[in-house]
Amino acid sequence: MNVAGRVRLDRMAEWSALGKHREELGEVHLRELFERDPGRAGRYVLRVGDLHLDYSKQLVTDETLRLLRELAAATGVAELRDAMFRGEKINVTEGRAVLHTALRAPSDAVVEVDGENVVPAVHEVLGKMADFARRVRSGEWTGHTGRRIRTVVNIGIGGSDLGPAMAYEVLRPYTDRGLGFRFVSNVDGADLHEALRDLDPAETLFIVASKTFTTIETITNATSARRWLLDGLGGDSAAVARHFVAVSTNAEKVAAFGIDTANMFEFWDWVGGRYSYDSAIGLSLMVAIGPERFREMLDGFRLVDDHFRTAPAEENVPLLLGLLGVWYGAFFDAQSHAVLPYSHYLSRFTAYLQQLDMESNGKYVDRAGRPVGWQTGPVVWGTPGTNGQHAYYQLLHQGTKVIPADLIGFARPVAELSEDLKAQHDLLMANLFAQGQALAFGKTAEEVRAEGVAEDLVPHRTFPGNRPTTTVLAGELTPSVLGQLVALYEHKVFVQGAVWDIDSFDQWGVELGKVLAKRVEPALVQGAEVPGLDASTAALVATYRELRGR
Ligand code: F6P
Repeated sequence: MNVAGRVRLDRMAEWSALGKHREELGEVHLRELFERDPGRAGRYVLRVGDLHLDYSKQLVTDETLRLLRELAAATGVAELRDAMFRGEKINVTEGRAVLHTALRAPSDAVVEVDGENVVPAVHEVLGKMADFARRVRSGEWTGHTGRRIRTVVNIGIGGSDLGPAMAYEVLRPYTDRGLGFRFVSNVDGADLHEALRDLDPAETLFIVASKTFTTIETITNATSARRWLLDGLGGDSAAVARHFVAVSTNAEKVAAFGIDTANMFEFWDWVGGRYSYDSAIGLSLMVAIGPERFREMLDGFRLVDDHFRTAPAEENVPLLLGLLGVWYGAFFDAQSHAVLPYSHYLSRFTAYLQQLDMESNGKYVDRAGRPVGWQTGPVVWGTPGTNGQHAYYQLLHQGTKVIPADLIGFARPVAELSEDLKAQHDLLMANLFAQGQALAFGKTAEEVRAEGVAEDLVPHRTFPGNRPTTTVLAGELTPSVLGQLVALYEHKVFVQGAVWDIDSFDQWGVELGKVLAKRVEPALVQGAEVPGLDASTAALVATYRELRGR
């Protein structure tokens, strides 16, 4: 790795200009911004594909947006974006290309890595996945005893779990309801136990998903699953070939595990784990929703890729979202970002975004290895909105922290709901709109007093407002819309990493804990001495052993 240091962000004139502008804005309130500029409601709206995005409730003016775009230009966001799409090795610490966008490229596209067009291989694997998915869905693929598969269990963790698990939940209405899907990730044996306890091995198919095929949680769970299968099917190891398939970049390790590499679905080192669910890592999802719906989802991703690549800065939605995050982190000291979907089906969406965003942009040095002097990625959090309203929204409304939030909702409920349940949809969405309004405009002390509230209660019942939100609306939560949403966040994260000058595509920060866990395990089991164990952890290990009865 040899990366020339860029001019530091905090030494750029564009950064200083934003700082000055922030001072000039002072404690301006959204109420005032709307009074001064009623047209912002109509102007601060963008569209990409099926997504309608309203950012009028953001603490920005035309001038803020202009200065943010200038910052993007000065920090080379567009140049880095183009280098990513071209297949250049922009993951500098791992010397890798970053080409999740090639996973959804049309078959006639040309995207080269080291002089080789990767698109034909992408489509070949998609074809192999589609063939497999059709065979499982139709019952043609049978288990060892000839029975058809009833449940698919995906074993993987991080990017090899969160994407398919999230998307399966989102697209449940599009799934084959005759097949069950379970996702096992945690090395806590309880996860596998609960997933398997009511399953029949003869009707269960395991997809072992691991880019490296060395991840200890996944290999441990897969080994236990194989034991469960063989115990249940009389011990004939030939059964493994009918009940285990693998998704990986590592054919050698897959073969060593005992899975026939003919049943391996390949992907490549230029696909980051957290960007991988539209590669073969999405196999469980493709079995669930079928190849056609999967294709629709990829087309949704591609639509936003094309938009991000070609839309002018003023209309570029991922650029805007990324810049807004930079604005709040740097100039409002915002530490976190809430994603609040008003859709039950998006219940795991924020968990998915946590890896996407926090593993990508949780970095403390720039691309050249120098400590940054500015905030990088925020803590991303949130759950479906109405549930959150009765839990943590109190802090959003009256707490002391600035927490920018995305409110995501859909105009139409999914088709398969009964008419009664569909009627609940307006109430759901009324909550989304009400929260956006309350967060932005609050309720003044005068308004509270006018209701006859006793003076000592007025401060308690006043809502300061001025809490920024973006509202994302779409007609319906389809596979394509899911692809559009995920690509939107992928590119938002990219924009922020580019401005902050960090490598958004490595994840060295997860390594130390893995190494230490391997060292500590023998101490827990055999009481072995762990060289270099600190006094606090050594005491905890001793207490653990005592409680464990060792
Ligand atoms: O430990 C973090 C990580 O490397 C993630 O980036 C990745 O998604 C996950 O582990 C799983 O890795 P693998 O797919 O190689 O099992």
